[in-house]
Amino acid sequence: MAPQSISVQPSASNLFSRSSGKLLVITRGEGVYCWDREGRRYIDGSSGPVCVNIGHGVKDVAEAVAHQMEKISYAHSSRYTTESVLECAEKLARFAPPGLNRTYFCSGGSEATEAAAKLARQYHLEQGGGSRYKIIARWQSYHGNTLGALSMSGNIARRRRYVPLLLDFPHIPPAYCYRCPFGKNREACDIDCALALEAEIKTNGPQYISAFIAEPVVGATLGTVPAPEGYFQVIREICDRHGVLFIADEVMTGLGRTGRNWGIEHWGVEPDMITTAKGLAGGYMPLGACIVSDKIAEGFNGAFAHGHTYGSHPVACAVGAVVLDYIAEHKLVQRSAELGRYLHERLVKLYDHSTVGDVRGLGVFAGIEFVKDRTSKKPFPASVGFHRRVLEHCLSRGLLVYPGVATVDGFDGDHIQVAPPLVVTREQIDEIVSILDAAIGEAEREVL
Ligand SMILES: Cc1ncc(COP(=O)(O)O)c(C=O)c1O
Repeated sequence: MAPQSISVQPSASNLFSRSSGKLLVITRGEGVYCWDREGRRYIDGSSGPVCVNIGHGVKDVAEAVAHQMEKISYAHSSRYTTESVLECAEKLARFAPPGLNRTYFCSGGSEATEAAAKLARQYHLEQGGGSRYKIIARWQSYHGNTLGALSMSGNIARRRRYVPLLLDFPHIPPAYCYRCPFGKNREACDIDCALALEAEIKTNGPQYISAFIAEPVVGATLGTVPAPEGYFQVIREICDRHGVLFIADEVMTGLGRTGRNWGIEHWGVEPDMITTAKGLAGGYMPLGACIVSDKIAEGFNGAFAHGHTYGSHPVACAVGAVVLDYIAEHKLVQRSAELGRYLHERLVKLYDHSTVGDVRGLGVFAGIEFVKDRTSKKPFPASVGFHRRVLEHCLSRGLLVYPGVATVDGFDGDHIQVAPPLVVTREQIDEIVSILDAAIGEAEREVL
């Protein structure tokens, strides 16, 4: 590896990487900016994979880590706890919806999904519902990469290779208004996508269904797609009618990202569990959580038969506590709502490009879906790699965004997510939009 090269080819290093392409070596970060080895500055237009919500280089976090490490770095959660873990749980209970007060901590989003699945199963067992085990999820969703979480994830591109290893969980169509799976438009919408849950529960037999899991705004795999108005109210009623628990996957949408504390608040319903990660420790530490309702906590007689060595990690929880303080002190939830409105107003300009099919999202959380033809909504063939071209042109102009593929149906389609840290300013939003404008224009000139 050449020490001074700005990027590294994984095969020429000692890494076994998730990427076949070159990795840019990032050396420093501050606020919404990152720098590479040559001192080139980039705007982090997606907070990494939508996790660096409070921005890079916050000194309070570094101090909290050092302080906690000086006191105690590790205590096994089966028999011990620390003040930092208790404090983080207390702060999270205050941040969570009123009826969700008890938290199980883990080390990321996939682990939170796994924990939620097992919590739901054990809850039913203890409540005399021992036949309930299946989790219904939605196609084109993402709930994590471990095998249980991938069994729930409905993104075909991520599942394809591993199908023989996956649990056979049912999936219903996504709430994807731009390409409504029921062929409706907004005016004719009867929320068939929510009603599909009841049909699926009946087909399987309600006595076998443990929970339904969904992202309030589908992030990585669909490109920031909020469910339509009324959707989660119908979902909540269906779950209640059939004794099915409702898990809101807020790994991406939690912690103020959508302009509310939790994405699900936009629909005014309370889930039985919230899974979260990413923004909880702001990208500074691996931390995930499963926050459960009083109903679950009270209906749970035994101890939760599950755990990992690094669950409830004292240092990760110290970071979680300081990130929650930072969000409150800097009013980042309100900021996300206000600046989100500005971001979406500005992104409308991108419709000047014929390849921009749909711009959507909530708060400082936006997605842009690209199409070859706006009238027919036909996507580019995967071989064109349109998202990759946009990504490269953004990168060369100093902007990092989060790309996605297989948007349309798990095979075709391109999108990017735009979700800068919630400390972003209006001027920085203008800069992001102007780079996107130039980068999309450049990609179009190459392929149209
Ligand atoms: C909605 C959602 N759930 C779960 C996960 C998995 O989280 P992790 O990558 O921390 O395991 C992700 C990651 O992108 C996600 O977006």
